[in-house]
Amino acid sequence: MLEFTFAKATPPKSGAIALLVAEGEAPSGLWAKLEEASGGAIGRAITAAEFKGTARQICTILAPMPGISRVVLVGLGKPDEFNRLVAEQAGGVSVTALLRDSQAAIAAPSLGPQDLAAAALGALLRSYRFDRYRTKEKPEDKPRLTRISVLSDDTVRTRAAFGPMRAVADGSFLTRDLVSEPPNVLNPVEFAERCKALSNLGIKIDILGLKELTKLGFGALLGVAQGSVNEPRVVIMQWNGANPGRGKRQPVAFIGKGVTFDSGGISIKPASGMEDMKWDMAGAGTVVGLMAALAGRAAKVDAVGMIGLVENMPSGSAQRPGDVVRSYSGQTVEIINTDAEGRMVLADLLWYCQDKFNPRFMIDLATLTGAIIVALGHEYAGLFSNDGDLSAQLAESGKTTGEQVWRMPLDPAFDRQLKSEIADMKHVTGRPGSSITAAQFLQRFVNGKPWVHLDIAGMAWSTKDAPCIPKGATAYGVRLLDHLVAEHFER
Ligand code: BES
Ligand code: MN
Ligand code: ZN
Repeated sequence: MLEFTFAKATPPKSGAIALLVAEGEAPSGLWAKLEEASGGAIGRAITAAEFKGTARQICTILAPMPGISRVVLVGLGKPDEFNRLVAEQAGGVSVTALLRDSQAAIAAPSLGPQDLAAAALGALLRSYRFDRYRTKEKPEDKPRLTRISVLSDDTVRTRAAFGPMRAVADGSFLTRDLVSEPPNVLNPVEFAERCKALSNLGIKIDILGLKELTKLGFGALLGVAQGSVNEPRVVIMQWNGANPGRGKRQPVAFIGKGVTFDSGGISIKPASGMEDMKWDMAGAGTVVGLMAALAGRAAKVDAVGMIGLVENMPSGSAQRPGDVVRSYSGQTVEIINTDAEGRMVLADLLWYCQDKFNPRFMIDLATLTGAIIVALGHEYAGLFSNDGDLSAQLAESGKTTGEQVWRMPLDPAFDRQLKSEIADMKHVTGRPGSSITAAQFLQRFVNGKPWVHLDIAGMAWSTKDAPCIPKGATAYGVRLLDHLVAEHFER
């Protein structure tokens, strides 16, 4: 994990230096000093490389002066198109050029403390690696970077701005760790066990096991779990950070699908790509990371996180198509396709959450449907909601954090397709609009509470590097929801 220090903007004596500069920016401050110390080498390299400072453009100058291994110039784009995300992404791409050095400095003469801290956050986010199971990597192939010194004229404000950002990055890393773990290691029991560590941050943890879930009547969730030798768990996390004595406490609630492996069950999936279904618990992973972020930065909010942890497996004890289960809400459901398991898990969690906590709103996150990837690709999560204000606030947070959402429709005409001949409803319809009918199914379990469903099937895992996200688990949603809370629900 990268360590960050904050120091005055004087030229470092050793290591690497990243300089973030905008288009048309003239050398000033540290940049001007380095230019002088290099005897003009930096300026000559800029000309030779045709470095303009366009967003995320990068230019490395090797050993331009004694002691300095490299100066990495990174573009911040046009000043009138600048925003926090640009700074973050510049910080992120700079890291790719700094990994060979154990120590690096980052400076951006034209940025204020908040934006500079955002660049440091980007660097931190991009530096993530999951290498637990690599035993043969040569030391010289491993990234060496361990310390980044953030250089600015206002170290106090920059350090202060970075504090809460660091907490959110820590939350994201926790999510990425969980999502990256293989499914033989991270089964529901182990996942729940790892949640206990959050009590160190002041989060109250309750774990419901097979016995409790049976007694409560979580029939929809238990139907999914019954084919696996790994028992299900439901974890409830509570962070009470709102000022007490300011009216009645009504928490915000986040609910995550935590299918630690989705084989499809008896309606088994094709072999090709089935290994991806280890990250079918990303919704739950995001809720855990989000709770850690909120607690880590001492957010002034009461928040509940609930995750449903199950493994969806075929076996002699597995659920069958044609089964009818009784959900915790009392509503009965006809099982059509055992691969539509996520909504069954969420159904019980949603009903329990609204009943037990009377939340201001519920937001669920789930890698719920392949169809949402067909609709929105890997750029937007699908947002389904009964609340226009909350949807708009999330869209705004999506723009700011880069974790974007696109609102999809809900409509009684879709809901009607859930009609069953034998039970109160069936849980799947035909393929047309199947992300929407999945959301319609969920809506039957929210009991009219303000609610958002985020279908993150296209967002939880990435097969290519992005400026602030190395390929793999993205922790999509942690930053989005942290921002939503910070902007609208803290007091
Ligand atoms: N976990 C999958 C959805 C998924 C697919 C997530 C690809 C990430 C990548 C979910 O449980 C599922 O299997 N959904 C089915 C629903 C269908 C049976 C109605 C689907 O999308 O095909
Ligand atoms: Mn499935
Ligand atoms: Zn699934």
